[in-house]
Amino acid sequence: MKKIRVAVVGTGFMGKAHALALRAAAAALEDGPAAELATLCDLDAGVAREKAGWWGFAGSTDDWRRAVADPAIDAVTIATPNATHREIALATLAAGKHVWCEKPMAHSLEDAEAMAAAAASSARVALLGYNYVSNPVLFAARRLIADGALGRVFEFRGRFDEDYLADPARPWSWRLRRAEAGLGAAGDMLCHLVSLALLLVGRVERLTGMMETVHRRRTLRDRPGETAAVENEDVVHALVRFAGGATGVMSSSRVAHGRKNLLRVEIHGERGTLIFDQERLNELRLYEADGPEATRGFRTILAGPLHPPYAAFCPAPGHQLGFGDLKTIEAAHFLRCIAGREAPFVGFADGLAIERTIHAIARSAETGGWVTVG
Ligand SMILES: NC(=O)c1ccc[n+]([C@@H]2O[C@H](COP(=O)([O-])OP(=O)(O)OC[C@H]3O[C@@H](n4cnc5c(N)ncnc54)[C@H](O)[C@@H]3O)[C@@H](O)[C@H]2O)c1
Repeated sequence: MKKIRVAVVGTGFMGKAHALALRAAAAALEDGPAAELATLCDLDAGVAREKAGWWGFAGSTDDWRRAVADPAIDAVTIATPNATHREIALATLAAGKHVWCEKPMAHSLEDAEAMAAAAASSARVALLGYNYVSNPVLFAARRLIADGALGRVFEFRGRFDEDYLADPARPWSWRLRRAEAGLGAAGDMLCHLVSLALLLVGRVERLTGMMETVHRRRTLRDRPGETAAVENEDVVHALVRFAGGATGVMSSSRVAHGRKNLLRVEIHGERGTLIFDQERLNELRLYEADGPEATRGFRTILAGPLHPPYAAFCPAPGHQLGFGDLKTIEAAHFLRCIAGREAPFVGFADGLAIERTIHAIARSAETGGWVTVG
């Protein structure tokens, strides 16, 4: 089977995650097509060259436009700051190539709209990097809900808290600047929560939101003694109504001391409750309101080979997958979408629904009222 020749743009946290996942996908899943790591791109040519060597790329460049224009490249993955996503994604699709872009889709709703429109008029695959939806236990959760284990679902409770900016002495970064990042905790974190809601409950229709910037200035890393304004929110809250009728609460904080990756979802239905927490990503907790009440309680379902595609990584249950494995499942999904065997989730159309939700929260936080998600 022909390999898919990929260029990865960005060599930070996500650039490396993409590179490792693309390398591993076909080997782990024992399924094609495989990716060929063709070009690695970074602003700094030396960094791109060095990382390309370590990660197994055939070549490197300091100009993503060269990678997009290269006829030897079939697909481009975008792992750069949010404000660059639109330009790279649009150029990639216009060049007739497939794109896998990190979340959030863009730094502004206008950019996300343009990207969704470009994807809709292209025959190429356009996937977003919502890695948490690739968890085998969440595939199982979706099946449980579809099979009626919870009965009618009427409530979604979600939070996503981390402490990467809890220390007020943590320096300023591009994530805090509207022109580069867009929204703060909503764009960086709550969007993931909305992706899980989309997977398990559906689209949000109406909401009211609140946002707060807790630490308003931070010191500049390269200019000690000088500070810059934090332009987006540290904390976000929303009360939501789903299109299917369920109500919900969503919250996110990047300044919650002690919280490392607390992406927690609790779904209440007429017959039971389901809980997932990314800090314990190999577990689902299920309460079924059946049988003698005296012996009822939550039971923990541990990820194992009966939860596809767990078995592709390990034949034994309970041995635990990790974040990198979720990214590998996502990369394999991207490659299968290119082969026409799966439909992208989260694709650009669903990604736009996520963007509309987080930007509706920002709108509501300004006006103080309920808003309809456009
Ligand atoms: N899916 C997830 O769980 C997850 C986690 C972290 C970050 N992200 C997303 O991934 C993206 C990148 O975040 P990160 O944490 O990897 O950032 P990072 O700061 O670690 O890395 C960004 C990289 O992009 C490079 N870069 C910037 N502009 C460039 C350009 N014009 N051309 C080429 N390279 C350029 C930088 O040199 C750097 O290597 C963001 O959109 C972020 O929201 C997703």
